Formats: sequence, structure tokens, C-alpha cells
Amino acid sequence: MASGPQPLGQLGSELLARRLVFVTGKGGVGKSSITAALARISSRAGLKTLVCEVDAKGDVAANFGAEHVGFKPKSVAPNLYVMAMDTEEALAEYLRLNLRLPIITSLGPLARAFDFVANAAPGVKEILVVGKLSWEVRERNWDIIWVDASASGHIVSQLASPEGISELFKLGIVKEQTAWMQEILSDPRTTSLVLVLTPEETPVAESLELLERLRYETSIHVQACVVNKVLGEPFAASQAALFAEMAHGKYREDFEAIAEGSADALVAASELAHGLRTSRSEHIRGFLSSLDEGIETVFVPYFMGAEAGTKLTIEIAEALMEEMS
Ligand SMILES: Nc1ncnc2c1ncn2[C@@H]1O[C@H](COP(=O)(O)OP(=O)(O)OP(=O)(O)O)[C@@H](O)[C@H]1O
Ligand SMILES: [Mg+2]
Repeated sequence: MASGPQPLGQLGSELLARRLVFVTGKGGVGKSSITAALARISSRAGLKTLVCEVDAKGDVAANFGAEHVGFKPKSVAPNLYVMAMDTEEALAEYLRLNLRLPIITSLGPLARAFDFVANAAPGVKEILVVGKLSWEVRERNWDIIWVDASASGHIVSQLASPEGISELFKLGIVKEQTAWMQEILSDPRTTSLVLVLTPEETPVAESLELLERLRYETSIHVQACVVNKVLGEPFAASQAALFAEMAHGKYREDFEAIAEGSADALVAASELAHGLRTSRSEHIRGFLSSLDEGIETVFVPYFMGAEAGTKLTIEIAEALMEEMS
């Protein structure tokens, strides 16, 4: 398999031309895996790439075979850095950079004050997340930032937070502080969102719901959907006919003799794979027919038996490259 950089297709080039891309979707669909693969692609294309993990429970660094990372970006491969969002540290950094406060040595009292404010005022934690990301964009610290974002519901409140906060306070300084973030988040040339889903009933329904909410409650540009864990067809049509004869038809006796007592299990497993593939295809069709025109969709296969790590990241990256070419 090719290991050097490959040419990118139109969607790939358009995605890599953004500065900030949020990757979201329902829990467990493969957000972190897809984020890691996209980051691998951009870093190998020569872009200085940052992956920012927003959800504290994840461990996106493991997808590059690296140890858990903190708030400070850590290099995990050439051109490729990973950091984990931490709202308290983001606030401390903000105060240092914007209000020119002396370096805060102890986070203790600040953390307590922060907790008080964050719990009292809705949107404070969210604004720190998007504020830190927008700041990194504004400072041009990276060519591209991939955000391993929060799962479906929470992403809407994060993306809508600058507007929400400025409406809440209506003060000049707050408006000023949030207007530039809104500008970055709502500029489709700068910022976009990739939605990851699997071809199953609930993820499909939740994805359509999320797209609707993103359209009405935020100004983010949804650039692409990645349908992940797509099962391959276990047999070609001619093989399916042969399988039917082996499973239930004229070759059943021969098959039983060869399978030495495992015939029923083998038939059940093959039928399950075929059935899953068929029902998943229907979910994909349903999703595509409900999707707005203009949102590109790419498919990533289910790599059976794969574990999160560099090998799976490479496999997904190669599949994405092929799909985007
Ligand atoms: N295309 C794929 N083929 C095989 N396994 C995959 C694929 N994509 C993801 N996985 C596996 O599925 C599991 C969930 O993936 P991942 O952690 O990326 O999901 P997530 O959406 O980030 O989950 P969470 O919501 O918990 O953060 C992991 O074990 C990952 O290795
Ligand atoms: Mg994750």
C-alpha cells in the first residue's frame, strides 16, 4: 500500500483548506478515529496540524500510538500535535493573554471562582472551549485544527455560545469579545463541521436531528458526513446462490460433511453478516435521501477485529483518501 502523500480529491482539498474543523456525532460512532485519520492526512500533506480533544473521557492520542496528552499541545508525529481541552486552563490562559494579569501560579482560588461563575452562568464553559479554538485560529498558530468534538447534543450549545453569551450580557466589552469568535465560527472558508455516523437506525435518526439543530441554532457550515463502519457485502450475487445451495439446498449434505459439525454456526454467521449489511444499506439509503443537497457523504468500511491505534488510523485515512479522490 502507498505510504507517501497521495493527491487529494476535491472534497479532500476543500476540507484541508479550512482552519478549524469540528468532527462530531453520536457517542461511539468513531469521532475520535475519523478525527485522527483526517489529522494524519493533513499532517502528511504538509500542514501544521493540531488535534484538540474536547471530551475529557476520550483519548484521541491513542489513535497515534501516543500517551494521553494535556492542555499543552504535544507532538505525536511530524507536523502533528495533540492537545486536550481544559476549560480551567483555557481561562487562566485567557486572563494572562487578554487582561495582562500576572502569571497565575496557583489555580486553586481561580478554579473555585471559575466553578462558581461557570455553574451560575450558562454558556461560560462552552465559550471557553470555542474561545480557545478561535484564538488559536486568530493567532495563526496552526494550518488546520481538527476538533474531536463533543457528542451530538452538546456541540450545538458550544457552537452557539458566543451569540448566547453576548445576548445574555449585552455589554460592549462582552460583545466585542465574542463578535470575533462568531466571525471565525460562521465563516465557511475558515470553519466547518464533519458529522460522523454509523449506518444504524438511532445514529441515522440522531444525525438528521442534529443537522436540523445546527442549521437553525448555529451558523456553522456542515461540510461533509462520514458514514463509518460500513459493512462489505459478504458475497457476490453468484456466490449468494451457491451459499443458498450450501446452507439449505442440494449441497447441504456435502457442506455438513466438510464443516464437521459447524455447518449451522457457519450458516448463521454468514446470514447475520448478510442481514446486517442489508439493513445497514437501507439505513444508508434512508439517510442519503433525507440529507440536504450540498453536503458530501463519504463511506469508511468496518475494519473487522481492528483495535484503536496507529494501524486503524492508517487504514481509515487510506479509505478516506480513496473516497475523497
Ligand atoms: N471503521 C472502523 N472499523 C473498525 N473499528 C472502528 C472503526 N471506526 C472506529 N472503530 C472503533 O470503534 C470504537 C469507537 O470509536 P471511537 O472511539 O473513534 O468513537 P467515538 O465516537 O470517538 O466514541 P466516544 O463517543 O466514546 O468518544 C473504537 O474501538 C474504534 O477503534
Ligand atoms: Mg471519542
